[in-house]
Amino acid sequence: MSFAAGTERTRFSVHADFFEMTCCQYDYRLEQPDDIDAIEILHAHAFGPGRFTRTAFRMREGVEHDPALSFVATALGRLVGSVRLTGIRIGDAPALLLGPLAVEPDYKKRSIGKTLVARSLAAATDNGHRLVMLVGDHPYYGPLGFDRVPFGKIQLPGPVDPARLLLAELVPGAAQSATGMAGSAVPAQEPDVTSASVSKVATGRVPVSTG
Ligand SMILES: CC(C)(COP(=O)(O)OP(=O)(O)OC[C@H]1O[C@@H](n2cnc3c(N)ncnc32)[C@H](O)[C@@H]1OP(=O)(O)O)[C@@H](O)C(=O)NCCC(=O)NCCS
Repeated sequence: MSFAAGTERTRFSVHADFFEMTCCQYDYRLEQPDDIDAIEILHAHAFGPGRFTRTAFRMREGVEHDPALSFVATALGRLVGSVRLTGIRIGDAPALLLGPLAVEPDYKKRSIGKTLVARSLAAATDNGHRLVMLVGDHPYYGPLGFDRVPFGKIQLPGPVDPARLLLAELVPGAAQSATGMAGSAVPAQEPDVTSASVSKVATGRVPVSTG
């Protein structure tokens, strides 16, 4: 069977269908603007306040996740899971960063997390992307297509356990050119030091996503 993007079903969409069959009472769809508040609450439940300091969060800073590749799971209309993909660069190579991935505690171990990852990878493949990176546990993400990154190949703008730095090639060989510093897909901007922004930071009311 061929898994060429755009022509036939990719291995990621086959994964997604398989996982989805095991938990057919959930619905999976692309994230909509109205989901933002529910996703913030989900991230707070899943990651707590420490989410804002994570290295993966810093790589996403200032860049919107891609709504064409970011999925939610719902149960009877309630949002119970979310995964986002955001454009980044690894050296000169364009890539996507997967995360945050979160499932409401009451809904864990029902294949929702795996289905969300598989759906987002299938959409990324269909949209012509080549490479997805994440910081996470290999025992969970390995069966979903992620491999550990050789030590020293990629640098991140913050501390990361090298064993948790993972890549999935959507196109065979795509990881070869992904070497160097990983970071935001847009050039860094001058920091905003207006009094309004300083006061928001001081009171912790900066609108942010999870790490
Ligand atoms: C990680 C998370 C998204 C998994 O969601 P989920 O819907 O429960 O996952 P699935 O149902 O697809 O898979 C469950 C299986 O993965 C295992 N698993 C969950 N987290 C794991 C981890 N970090 N490492 C290894 N295995 C893990 C479970 O033990 C379970 O194993 P089993 O099938 O043998 O019982 C969810 O636990 C969560 O939201 N955690 C908090 C946020 C987080 O850590 N996100 C990931 C950041 S990288």
